Amino acid sequence: MDYIEIEGGVQLRGHVRVSGAKNAALPIMASLLLTTGETRLRNLPRVRDVITFGQVLQALGANLCTDASELVVDTTAIDRFEAPYDLVRTMRASFLVMGPLLARYGQARVSLPGGCAIGARPVNLHLNGLQALGARLELTQGYVGAYADRLHGASIVFPTPTVTGTENLLMAAVLAEGTTVIDNAACEPEVVNLAEALTRMGARVAGAGSSRLVIEGVPRLEAAVHDIIPDRIEAGTFLVAGAMTAGDVTVDNCCPAHLTAVLEHLHATGAAVEVGEKWVRVAGGMRTRPIEVATAPYPGFPTDMQAQMMALLACADGCSVISETVFENRYMHAAELARMGAEIRLDGADAIVKGVPELHGAPVMATDLRASASLILAGLAAKGITTVSRVYHLDRGYEQIEMKLAALGAKIRRLP
Ligand code: EPZ
Repeated sequence: MDYIEIEGGVQLRGHVRVSGAKNAALPIMASLLLTTGETRLRNLPRVRDVITFGQVLQALGANLCTDASELVVDTTAIDRFEAPYDLVRTMRASFLVMGPLLARYGQARVSLPGGCAIGARPVNLHLNGLQALGARLELTQGYVGAYADRLHGASIVFPTPTVTGTENLLMAAVLAEGTTVIDNAACEPEVVNLAEALTRMGARVAGAGSSRLVIEGVPRLEAAVHDIIPDRIEAGTFLVAGAMTAGDVTVDNCCPAHLTAVLEHLHATGAAVEVGEKWVRVAGGMRTRPIEVATAPYPGFPTDMQAQMMALLACADGCSVISETVFENRYMHAAELARMGAEIRLDGADAIVKGVPELHGAPVMATDLRASASLILAGLAAKGITTVSRVYHLDRGYEQIEMKLAALGAKIRRLP
């Protein structure tokens, strides 16, 4: 297993480009199951989860060919409707094939995703919605089987917004008979990117980006070409790196409107934030002001940026309070940051971060995708050498992060 070694203390300076958003690529790859024929996807991130999702599509009978950051998927030969356990357990997002397979082929069998490091992460809201659309469900051997001759429109209200739940039911509803309304739908940009892709394929979707989606079912969808949006979490991660190292970092190809909550909180810590049409620049001050931050569904502060923000606040001028309202166990990085000298007290959903003058390098271990990003950030700012092990977590959602950071001046390298 690779690990990453960082010598901290360098002020990061310069420009960086982010890859396509993993969490937009995965549902759009799933949506290709709704059509027959060849679809070209552009600006795909070359990350582990996208490769895994390609394997899921191949297990269903799709043919894939990649060139550079483009992927061509041919769904003509789809003839299997079961997503295997060994793939689903490595990537819970595989559950996203449930809605499109059911809508297009009337059947789907997907292994129930287990929990993961950040929480139980049930899929009950996905399943309740599919039943409302007319699916008959069976749970056998840890697999969920869903069957329906033809799905019909329904009115669905989510008790809490769910990103992949919204995406799964959106994909199920586009071929259903009649109209489907989804209330309290997730508003994330990745949901909007999926809705745009479905619309280009001929779907009729209104309200994407709002909490009410209205979908008019259509008989079939046609293959189309899709562009994946830039990854707002990767962009946010690099901007926090600029703030943490008192550097000056510009992300050249992001959507600033997707980062409003992150930029507001970075500004509150005293970082200088400058926004262009497609770029954002953050310069760190010599001191970081403590803040209070609570994660929330979009457009609130993203839970996927919570660990990165904790790394920044670990060296703030005072006490900060972080509230993780989305997941029940997303503080695994706190113990690892403490090994580097951070002073963090967990109290239920809250983490009280008492700023220290500086962190010091140490061997630390990644536990989940965003926790590993926060440890990399801490290593960039810490005094001395930090080694981060189990970087396969990082590779799930960040494309060549050590190359991009090295281009900003970081002393960082990947070792086998
Ligand atoms: C998506 O996960 C993202 N993954 C996550 O990113 C992200 O952290 C999360 O949304 C929140 O923004 C992808 O898009 C592939 P949820 P998802 O359903 O859809 C509860 C990363 O780092 N819930 O919005 O699984 C759930 O337990 C990953 O890239 C139910 O109770 O998250 C959680 O508390 C990590 N029942 C809350 O809703 C359900 O059926 C929000 O979860 C579904 C969800």
